[in-house]
Amino acid sequence: MLRSFFIGLSTNKSFRKFSESSSIGRRVSHRFVAGMTVEEAIAAAQQLNREGIAVTLDALGESVTDEPHAIASAATYHRLLDEIASHNLRANVSLKLTQMGMDVGGANSAEGQALAERIVASLVEHAAKFQNFVRIDMEGSEYTEATLSITERLFARFPGAVGTVLQAYMFRTEADAERLLRQGIRIRLCKGAYKEPDDIAFPGKADVDANYLKLAKRMITSEVFCGIATHDEAIINELCRFADAHEIERPAFEFQMLYGIRRDLQRKLVRQGYGVRVYVPFGTEWYPYFMRRLAERPANVLFLTRNFFRT
Ligand code: FDA
Repeated sequence: MLRSFFIGLSTNKSFRKFSESSSIGRRVSHRFVAGMTVEEAIAAAQQLNREGIAVTLDALGESVTDEPHAIASAATYHRLLDEIASHNLRANVSLKLTQMGMDVGGANSAEGQALAERIVASLVEHAAKFQNFVRIDMEGSEYTEATLSITERLFARFPGAVGTVLQAYMFRTEADAERLLRQGIRIRLCKGAYKEPDDIAFPGKADVDANYLKLAKRMITSEVFCGIATHDEAIINELCRFADAHEIERPAFEFQMLYGIRRDLQRKLVRQGYGVRVYVPFGTEWYPYFMRRLAERPANVLFLTRNFFRT
């Protein structure tokens, strides 16, 4: 119930406006957000790289409804790609199609899809010039098919420079995984952070976890380099055992986690010789991202409140 409450709150426009402009909101968001500026994000990436952790940078933003805003969001990403190259960072970028204009002209409209594809194509081309990589995050199920099709078309134009995300809670994901693996498209596998109806997604956590494990095993035994994005230690331990038993080399895949979550586990996996990449979000549009992190673990509210009054 609390999960639904926070996911519902994540799309509340008035509360978002209030929170993002308040100094208290910004202070609290620091638990999961690396800062408000590109400079702060680069500094966080440098620190993680020093600890042997790769990074994916996310300039927060989503549900953009006008073209100038989408173009401004892309400009930040063009800058990030240049900064990554000039600082020689072990980092790539993650973005959302609704941040790149997918909702312009109406939610997921043909006009919006064409705009987002055009904008993201220029980013993928930019990344390809630096042998870098753009990851297209997966959003709610109304965007799944368009996200996959756009990724496929961009991959055909810029092979290796773009990949996307699949969510283990969706029934369709097993077939989608085969579809992307066949083309050699890199997948990040996550459990899924949105509220989806029971007729298209597993409602129970145990089923999501079982599907996650099954799909992750399929991905790490494939020829394609995939990102195993979870903080679930039981799943991670089982995958490490599975990889050893099947003689899968450690560099054949990587674990991915979110900034500020299970830092102990991130470092332990690095010590054990696994590839680890941390998703580093930053920027003033932090509210929906932050609310989804509370939805995943409502106990975070208590944790944040305690820390807020302690500092
Ligand atoms: P689960 O929720 O079962 O948590 C396992 C354990 O992890 C918990 O017991 C706790 O210890 C810790 N944990 C998890 N979430 C926490 C939190 N918020 N605060 C503190 N501890 C927490 N989703 C999506 O729909 N589209 C996307 O593109 C992405 N992208 C993405 C990238 C990366 C790198 C990651 C790690 C995750 C995503 N996600 C995502 C989010 C994902 O779908 C999922 O909601 C979260 O990762 C939480 O699920 P876990 O797999 O960690 O397991």
